Amino acid sequence: MPNIVVVGAQWGDEAKGKIVDRLARGAEMVVRYGGGSNAGHTVTVDGRTHKFHLIPCGILYPGVTCVIADGVVVDPGVLVSEIEGLRSQGISVEGLRISTNAHVILPYHRLQDRLEEQRKGAGAIGTTGRGIGPAYADKAARCGIRMHELVDPSVFAARVREQIAARACLLASAEGDPAMDADAVIAEYAVYAEALRPYVAHTVPLVAEAARSRRGIVFEGAQGTLLDLDLGTYPYVTSSHPVAGGACLGTGVGPTAIHGVVGVAKSYSTRVGAGVFPTELLDATGDRIRERGNEYGTTTGRPRRCGWLDTVILRYSAQVNGLTCLSLGHVDVLTGFDTVKVATAYRIGERVVDTLPPDLAHARDLSPIYEELPGWPEDVGDARRFEDLPETCRTYIRRVAELSGVPVATVSVGPSREQLLIVDPAAAEAAGFTRS
Ligand code: IMP
Repeated sequence: MPNIVVVGAQWGDEAKGKIVDRLARGAEMVVRYGGGSNAGHTVTVDGRTHKFHLIPCGILYPGVTCVIADGVVVDPGVLVSEIEGLRSQGISVEGLRISTNAHVILPYHRLQDRLEEQRKGAGAIGTTGRGIGPAYADKAARCGIRMHELVDPSVFAARVREQIAARACLLASAEGDPAMDADAVIAEYAVYAEALRPYVAHTVPLVAEAARSRRGIVFEGAQGTLLDLDLGTYPYVTSSHPVAGGACLGTGVGPTAIHGVVGVAKSYSTRVGAGVFPTELLDATGDRIRERGNEYGTTTGRPRRCGWLDTVILRYSAQVNGLTCLSLGHVDVLTGFDTVKVATAYRIGERVVDTLPPDLAHARDLSPIYEELPGWPEDVGDARRFEDLPETCRTYIRRVAELSGVPVATVSVGPSREQLLIVDPAAAEAAGFTRS
């Protein structure tokens, strides 16, 4: 079976969990390649909702190995509670492996995240406050602490003391904060180390082996393309590489091992945190999408900013990820609008552009140019085949495929496993949606 990367084609929160869950069925391995507990993946099975921050959602299938790979930043406290939560529901985590090279988030990273956001004031990024940026900054500065050090008590204690001492003057205002008390941090993390030690492994060869297996790998992306550190709307981005290329860097497989890239997109757009959002709707339509789509963060509970679908963004996403197909979600949320709009280009001052401008994050006087399509009044949650959808809804989906230049393999009409419909059988098969 193919090795497939699942990426967010917008600003994250595209419901990638559901797509990974579908593709994980019959896979050898599911690998999370980047980000940390800023992510929140939700999967609904038999009416039961499972929320994941770090563990790949393939863990719901017995026999699928689930790897938290080198590119992930691991908050061990979050991971331990996630493991305990799954066990308490009778779900085995025996197949979990955590890379020795994954970096560890420490309390001082969360503190730094909070203080930096406070310092930025009106210019704050609107981070999730999980310490993600500071942990990746330490990795780039070559002073991060990794999983193999966490599980080695004497090495870990020395590294924590060294790192807390090194940032004492940087965080002078935080004197007395528990995050800066080395003894307390060491004691707290010793408990996590005990719990996580059995799962820590050198995962690069495991992933390489699975990539050659008959059943293949699903690479689980976190966040979304426009939040990529290099290719997103910098500086309003996360500090990792959610794009498909991140799967190679974050796991140690070469690009030739990857056979396809599924871009997951909502039928509209959302964004959490600050930064440019061309199709944002600050009116009753935006509120209606937020309420109908329950657009509140899985990780932070923050209301998401909502707007119409933007195919300038989707074309960009197709380009930088090499998307082989799209999985379009939340189609049910658009039920009941007389017309639905899709952005096809932007007007920036006097210019009209249909590709993502390099200065998007700072563009002034930008407005989207919309195409307006007929809506559909029918509830579509009970549809089980593409043909069950109203004609106007099908036209909308076909138009999205045309405008983005990528086949729509599947659409989602609700959160449960049965509410995923095949649109383009060839594209769906190539991506592994049809395997049992
Ligand atoms: P950080 O990743 O916590 O540093 O946050 C940086 C930016 O990425 C903020 O705008 C966050 O709201 C956004 N972000 C981070 N993780 C997610 C996610 O999983 N979904 C959506 N937005 C996210």
